[in-house]
Amino acid sequence: GAPITVDISALEVGQRLVHEWRGQPIWIVRRSPAVLEALPTLDDQLRDPMSENPEQQPAYVLEGDPHLRSLRPEVSVLVGLCTHLGCAPEMKAEIRPEPFDANWKGGYFCPCHKSKFDMSGRVYQGVPAPTNLIVPPHYYADENTIVVG
Ligand code: FES
Repeated sequence: GAPITVDISALEVGQRLVHEWRGQPIWIVRRSPAVLEALPTLDDQLRDPMSENPEQQPAYVLEGDPHLRSLRPEVSVLVGLCTHLGCAPEMKAEIRPEPFDANWKGGYFCPCHKSKFDMSGRVYQGVPAPTNLIVPPHYYADENTIVVG
């Protein structure tokens, strides 16, 4: 599949753009400052907090803060498929207790078998999904343009 080009100039905090690349949903999410602050505090609840599995992301997204898995802190790019059996996780970007728990810091919830991921796509411990969500290869063509592929 050819690369896709996405204009993120209208993407607001807490919102997600969904595009398709190679038959897969690609999510582009603008994360809030509160979410960015919370991400490093989640490490001890996660299976692979530092993204040490090299198949789940290009190495360059770990060069900044590896908790963020992104080229720019606020903008997360993910393949929107659960790494268990490929269902579509739901985004629950808000930091709020319901319907999860008092410590919910935003993230993705897979309705098929209840896997949970944080707002960097990092998988929680104790769920069926074995690995973090995939970050696809991508780069910024300019300030507001992401090329995936
Ligand atoms: Fe997501 Fe099974 S497909 S938890």
